[in-house]
Amino acid sequence: MFTTRCYLPCFVFILWISLGLLHIGAADDDLIVDKPVTENCLECLCEAKSNCNATKICVNGACGIFRITWGYWTEGGSLTLPNDTSLSEEVFSLYFLAFTNCVNDPICAAETIQKYMYKYGQDCNGDGRIDCLDFGALHKMGNLRCQDELPYTFGRIFHKCLKRKERDAKSKESSITK
Ligand SMILES: *[C@@H]1O[C@H](CO)[C@@H](O)[C@H](O)[C@H]1NC(C)=O
Ligand SMILES: *[C@@H]1O[C@H](CO)[C@@H](O)[C@H](O)[C@H]1NC(C)=O
Repeated sequence: MFTTRCYLPCFVFILWISLGLLHIGAADDDLIVDKPVTENCLECLCEAKSNCNATKICVNGACGIFRITWGYWTEGGSLTLPNDTSLSEEVFSLYFLAFTNCVNDPICAAETIQKYMYKYGQDCNGDGRIDCLDFGALHKMGNLRCQDELPYTFGRIFHKCLKRKERDAKSKESSITK
């Protein structure tokens, strides 16, 4: 029971616990709270989407190495490249150009993914945590359908890439401890 007398000590206690948990989270996986997607995860997303082909191209309205759509980009905060910042939403064609310029730029596209996942991150596969498997499902199928099964080809490449990253991390770890 929280009585008023407990207010300050309890507050300090809860703060201490929260900071502790944040710290553990950070040590665990380089997890930065508002950038939930790791570098490895981003690499597997582009591998499964485009084989990380950096050709500036749109395929059925999905552009760049991560094949980001217009809707995804707007959900992810409509980020723009530095030289596109003065564009307004009213001038639709310029706004559309700002979209293709951003998502065809690997960094702007990756930032869009971070914002999208920060906003919609959820345990799509019900395994009790929110990790790259969920980000893959969110990226491919969106936040409303991320519980569905991954399309075969995307899923195969994505899972293979994650396994490879895991193996690489393990062999790096063991070579450090040797
Ligand atoms: C990248 O994509 C473009 C356009 O689809 C294609 O012409 C090119 O061969 C691809 N490059 C690689 C390395 O796959
Ligand atoms: C600025 O925008 C143009 C297209 O309008 C684009 O081709 C170019 O790469 C951008 N430059 C930078 C530095 O972002």
